[in-house]
Amino acid sequence: MATQTITATEAKPASFFATAPYIPPDAIFALTAEYNADSCPQKVNLGQGTYRDENGQPWVLPSVQKARDTLLSQGLYHEYLPILGLESFRNEAAKVALGAELYGKQRAKLAICQSLSGTGALHLAGLLLRSCRSPLPRVYVPSPTWSNHIQVFSSLGFQCESFKYYDEQKKTLDIESYLATLRAAEPGSIVILHACAHNPTGCDPSREQWKQIGAIMKERSLFPLFDAAYLGFNSGSVDDDAFAMRYVVDELQMEAGVCMSFAKNMGLYGERVGCLFFATGSEKTAKNTQSVLEMLQRSEVSNPPAYGARIASAILSSDDLRDMWYADLTTMSGRIRSMRRALYDALIKYGAHGSWEPLIRQSGMFGFLGLSPYVVNKLKEKYHVYMASNSRISIAGLNPSNVDYVARSIAECLDES
Ligand code: LMR
Repeated sequence: MATQTITATEAKPASFFATAPYIPPDAIFALTAEYNADSCPQKVNLGQGTYRDENGQPWVLPSVQKARDTLLSQGLYHEYLPILGLESFRNEAAKVALGAELYGKQRAKLAICQSLSGTGALHLAGLLLRSCRSPLPRVYVPSPTWSNHIQVFSSLGFQCESFKYYDEQKKTLDIESYLATLRAAEPGSIVILHACAHNPTGCDPSREQWKQIGAIMKERSLFPLFDAAYLGFNSGSVDDDAFAMRYVVDELQMEAGVCMSFAKNMGLYGERVGCLFFATGSEKTAKNTQSVLEMLQRSEVSNPPAYGARIASAILSSDDLRDMWYADLTTMSGRIRSMRRALYDALIKYGAHGSWEPLIRQSGMFGFLGLSPYVVNKLKEKYHVYMASNSRISIAGLNPSNVDYVARSIAECLDES
C-alpha cells in the first residue's frame, strides 16, 4: 500500500481567516467610545442620536416606566415569541404608522413582522425585496443619509445609487435634483425615504414636495421603502410626522415598505424594538409576503426579543399609556427645539462666522452645522466637544449647562481656522 507524505504546507494550513481584511470600527460607535474614555469634565457628546434630559442623563420615558411596572406586576417570564413577533405589538406598530382609520382599511393587505429595531427592519426588507426580483433592482439612497443605509443594502448584494439630496450652498433640500433622479430611475427600483426628521440634515420635504415625490414614484413604478426611525421627533405628533407614508399608501394607493424603530421615540435603544410592514395590493399578496417574512426571520433570528416589544405593546394598546407617550414625545421634541434655538442664539451672541439660520429651519433630532472636518476634529481635540465627522450634532446632547460652552467653542474654532 502506497504511503502518503505529508508536506509542511498540508500539516500547517494557512488560517481559514487569512483573507479577512481589517475593517475600521463603525465611526459613530467609535466616537461614543472615545467620548466615554475622555476624562475631561467639560466634555460634551453630540455624536450618536440618543436622547438626553436637561441634565445630560439618559431618560426613561414615564410611559415606559409605567409599562415596565405593569409588566413586572403581571410577572416577567422568558418564553419565546412567535417567529413574526408579538402579535399585539406588530398590529399596534402598524396602526401608529398608518393611523387607526387607514390601518383599519388596509389591515388585510398588510404583511407585518417584528424586527430587530430599525436596522433589522431595513435588513429584513432588503432580504424580502431581494427574494422578489431578479435581476436585483437598484436601491436609491439620498446623499447624505444615515451612515448604515448603504452598508445594509450593499451587504445584501444590491447596487446602491446615491443621489444629491442636500444643497451644500443653500443648506436646503435639493428638490430639483431629487425629482430629476426619480424621473430618470429605472422602473422597479427601490427608493429609501426618510419618513421624517432626515438623518443627518434635518431637512424634510414639505407636504407639497412629498406629493411631487410620490407622484413621480407612482408614475415611474418606483418602490417606496420608508425608514421611520424618528416618528414624533419632528413635531411631537406621530400623526403629523407620518404624513408621507400615509399619503403614499392612502392617496396614491401604492405598495410600500415601512421600517419602524422604537429606539428613539420610546427611548428603547438597547431593547431593539422594531417592526417592518409592507402595504401590498391584495389580501393574497399580503398573506404570501408575510409567509416569506416568517421564513426569512426564522433563518436569521428565529424569533425576535420579547421584553421591549411587550413594553411598546403595553403602551400602544392602552389609551392612558398611549396618551402618556404622546406627552413624552412632546417633552422630547420640545426640549430639542428649545436647545436648537438656544444654540442658534448663543452662536449669534459669540459672533460665530457663518450663517446659522439653516440650523433653526432644520427639525428632528439633528442639527447639520456645515463645519469642515478640520473644525470638527479641533472641537473634539481641544474643546472635548464630540460630533459626527460630517458636523451632524445630536441636539439632545445640549442642555442649559453646556450650550453656551458649545457655541463659544464653535465660534473660537472658526476664528482659529
Ligand atoms: C445615529 O444615527 O446616531 C443613530 O441612529 C445610531 C446609529 O445606530 O447609527
